[in-house]
Amino acid sequence: MLPTIDPTTTKSWKKLSNYFTSIGKQSLNQLFESDNNRAQKFSLQWQNLFVDYSKTHIDEQTMRLLIELARECHLAEAIEQMFRGEKINQTQKRAVLHFALRNLGDDPVFLDGRDVMPEIRTVRNQMKIFSTQVRNGDWKGYTGKPIRNIVNIGIGGSDLGPAMVCRGLQFYGHERLRVFFVSNVDGGHIYETLRHLNAEETLFLIVSKSFTTQETLANAKTARQWFINQGGKAEDISKHFVAISTNTPAAMEFGIDPENIFHFWDYVGGRFSLWSAVGLSIALQIGYESYEELLKGAEAMDHHFRETPFENNLPILLALLSIWYTNFFDCATEAILPYDQYLERFPAYLQQTIMESNGKSIDRSGLPVSYKTSPVIWGEPGTNGQHSFYQLIHQGTQMIPCIFMAAAKPLTPLSEHHQLLLSNFFAQPEALMKGKTAEEVRAEMLSKGFNEEEINKLLPFRVFRGNIPSISLLYQQLTPYNLGAITALFEHRTFVQGIIWNIFSFDQWGVELGKSLANNIIPELAHDDPIQTHDGSTRQLIHKVKQMRKS
Ligand code: F6P
Repeated sequence: MLPTIDPTTTKSWKKLSNYFTSIGKQSLNQLFESDNNRAQKFSLQWQNLFVDYSKTHIDEQTMRLLIELARECHLAEAIEQMFRGEKINQTQKRAVLHFALRNLGDDPVFLDGRDVMPEIRTVRNQMKIFSTQVRNGDWKGYTGKPIRNIVNIGIGGSDLGPAMVCRGLQFYGHERLRVFFVSNVDGGHIYETLRHLNAEETLFLIVSKSFTTQETLANAKTARQWFINQGGKAEDISKHFVAISTNTPAAMEFGIDPENIFHFWDYVGGRFSLWSAVGLSIALQIGYESYEELLKGAEAMDHHFRETPFENNLPILLALLSIWYTNFFDCATEAILPYDQYLERFPAYLQQTIMESNGKSIDRSGLPVSYKTSPVIWGEPGTNGQHSFYQLIHQGTQMIPCIFMAAAKPLTPLSEHHQLLLSNFFAQPEALMKGKTAEEVRAEMLSKGFNEEEINKLLPFRVFRGNIPSISLLYQQLTPYNLGAITALFEHRTFVQGIIWNIFSFDQWGVELGKSLANNIIPELAHDDPIQTHDGSTRQLIHKVKQMRKS
């Protein structure tokens, strides 16, 4: 296993801290003025992706030192450990093999000396047969009609990944099929989803790695009851319910026909599972061949990540830039801003991937870390965000590094819309970097006929300090292949950051706590007797709910 290294004790970290005091003071405008070739130097083309990271506070020396940091933290060994199937998820004693799910070649992937590829290929084949039957109408509901509605019931990784991809690739969807996602235990979610559907044409995918998750089981039970209430019989359930899980016995106990269970394995983390049968909704929506394109894009990114020198390695470069801003500039958040409405759910998906992985404060030797780990990840598609929170990015008190994303070619024939969208995609990072000086504001106001008094009064509000960093990620078009590659890029970026921060990225103990606490309260809500447990505030809130329900 990797030696545990506090990154702040490395030589490169110290050099970076010293270097930060000089380069950190230079504005992005100055960096561009001092180097005509900057944009070309700090950008990278890989297949259909182009990443421009020149609008960040770096120079060649910064990049050299950040790469030295990655080396000192044994990143190369860590990457090999993952791809060799070592149990790098040490707190759960598990290997991390989501890359095997998109290994479409003949190479074996070993776990404890056993090749896992045959079992992966078997499930892929099961997905292919099933999705083809549903799409071509051979899979019939209990009244003999083909399926029209697919309802994915799952939460966290059993929801966010497939939901993001299904939304992202809806352009390629089957014209008869509509895909819905129900995750929240709030009854409003399933109620509003089901109320316009009819049972005879609806297929439920119950997706849960553990098949013990409270929210998913509650929604699955409600769906089953709804199906019966709508006229389905117990013996019809096998035509309308399938499960995707590592826990086959629990899925069977729920009443899922063993033939309808798509298996996956402990070596796939929930938030990295969209490449497994958890992505069945994707295969149903876009067809198995296109689903394999998604896997192919991710597989290509895996090769890039494993085989490319650090200097030209996209996930590593993006990870190091994020560390530069988090740990040296002390930035607390990062904004993900896709100028692509199809990627509406991408920021939410990345929140889980990044924050559930790297929102940790205990290092790999079990000691508290003395430095920041994951920033808060947030965002919305552009241009919507511009009319909402961009004010804070432009003129607020914090520096927020941004990742802008856009397709060079639109999917729709509405090319004029795309020109407008792209003009904003170019304008915002430029404005964030350049800002607007007092002199510029003054000249502009004079030209608009403002008098001196008005100018002096209003000028401070109209100045933009600029110097806000961003990375621009361009992809040729939003295809399954490109989305697969982009998604895997961010997965690997997350892994790299976890290695450098010396934390375990593949467990999620913080989430487990919430699950058990809520379970303790369920019985207390079922009666009217005063309760003595909890703190005063929680007790008061529980009593208040009971009172309010009565009135
Ligand atoms: O939210 C915590 C979590 O454990 C996630 O990691 C996981 O994706 C989600 O719950 C759902 O778990 P399951 O797929 O087992 O229902």
